[in-house]
Amino acid sequence: MKSVTLTDNQSGKRVEFPLLESVLGSHVIDISSLNKELGYFTYDNGLGMTASCTSTITYIDGDKGELLYRGYEIEELATNHNYLEVCYLLLNGELPTPQEYRVFEDDMRIKRYPNEGIKKIFEAFPDKAHPMAVLSSAVSALSAFHFQHLDIKTHQEYMEMARRIIAKIPTLVAYTYRHSMGYPYIYPDPNRYFSENFLYMMRAFPNGKVKISQVEIDALDAIFTLHADHEQNASTSAVRLVCSTGAHPYAAISAGINALWGRAHGGANESVVDQLEMIGDVSKVDAFIARAKDPNDDFRLMGFGHRVYKNFDPRARVLKKMRDKLQAELGISSKIIEIANRIEEIALNDDYFVSRNLYPNIDFYSGTLLLALQIPRSMFTPIFVIGRTGRVDYPMDGAKTRPKRQNHTPTPTLCGQC
Ligand code: SDX
Repeated sequence: MKSVTLTDNQSGKRVEFPLLESVLGSHVIDISSLNKELGYFTYDNGLGMTASCTSTITYIDGDKGELLYRGYEIEELATNHNYLEVCYLLLNGELPTPQEYRVFEDDMRIKRYPNEGIKKIFEAFPDKAHPMAVLSSAVSALSAFHFQHLDIKTHQEYMEMARRIIAKIPTLVAYTYRHSMGYPYIYPDPNRYFSENFLYMMRAFPNGKVKISQVEIDALDAIFTLHADHEQNASTSAVRLVCSTGAHPYAAISAGINALWGRAHGGANESVVDQLEMIGDVSKVDAFIARAKDPNDDFRLMGFGHRVYKNFDPRARVLKKMRDKLQAELGISSKIIEIANRIEEIALNDDYFVSRNLYPNIDFYSGTLLLALQIPRSMFTPIFVIGRTGRVDYPMDGAKTRPKRQNHTPTPTLCGQC
């Protein structure tokens, strides 16, 4: 077993700690015996250098701008596979065969319908209630309609609950929106694919026709895939912590939704659109870029920079292509996108940003893409919830899941597994 030796300069004591080797990325030091051996604890503000578990789900190389789900590059998954295939991959460690996909998707279509009683939860909220308050309550309330016992002990019981949550969340998000507008709820349509069905529930009216183009379905599907997981971020850590007490996934996902509510996390794409709107005209972009570069001005360009990616966020690259395609095919020309394009054009060539590795992140494009999909801003973060729920995974030894590529102990900012 490889190891690292630490010397305590106070006592001169030298202690060996095991080195856990990862297949990709940095190895990690197992310091679980630190207090027993040397009487110390560690301090790591923000857990930026601390792994909370081993995992075979997601790997990020921030310097290279690389993101892998179960060993697959994110660009490959978002371009060649749909979101439900990616959910299957995250849950089971392998992409589904056509037969496995058929069974999984049919099951998810049936599970889209929440118990009718859940509607009383929405009616309890004023229409102007924040959608994340409504959504986190509705997800927690799903447990009241899970008539089998909630004290799950087997992988099968857990996966059944995970599939129900993944299938029902889009319906709950659509109901949240419909309630906020005073619109009638639209039942899920079992004949429509996952992402098409969501747009249908958001746009349709009883006895009316609804127009949904394939390019819109593909763009939304890519957004769900690109948001499906991102190692040990705040919301995943919240889900993991709740799961670790033995609480069921409904409680854990509800906690994760509340963590994602924050502007620094799930709300970042809303901040991007707010800022583009505040800038208001492409002629003002230069002045705001100057403010972003001014050390005496705390103004920052929303959607630029990332704690981990010191290169282009690979998810941003996919979304930029999707947004340009959507804009061209639907003939969307919006002032906000014009301003965004100008900011990107300047920032990608300006030494202030390039020298600090400040590149557009996922939020810089997802906000303008959702606007192009006519998704109201208030629903941006609930859309993020749909994507991120796709990896409600069983808290079990990673070795039991068969990753497509070799498994690994990812970088210290690890993801959770429940
Ligand atoms: C997300 O998947 C998910 O879980 C979603 C998500 C994810 O993990 O991907 O959570 C989504 O986190 C994307 C980030 C969303 N936030 C924003 O877009 C807000 C704007 N970005 C910044 O606030 C900032 O870039 C951070 C917080 C994201 C990252 O900051 P860092 O890497 O810690 O950089 P830093 O604060 O140490 O700053 C380094 C330098 C400083 O200048 P100097 O002191 O060297 O002169 O870069 C400057 C900063 O002032 N800087 C910026 C800037 N971000 C950093 N200057 C202008 N505009 C910015 N956006």
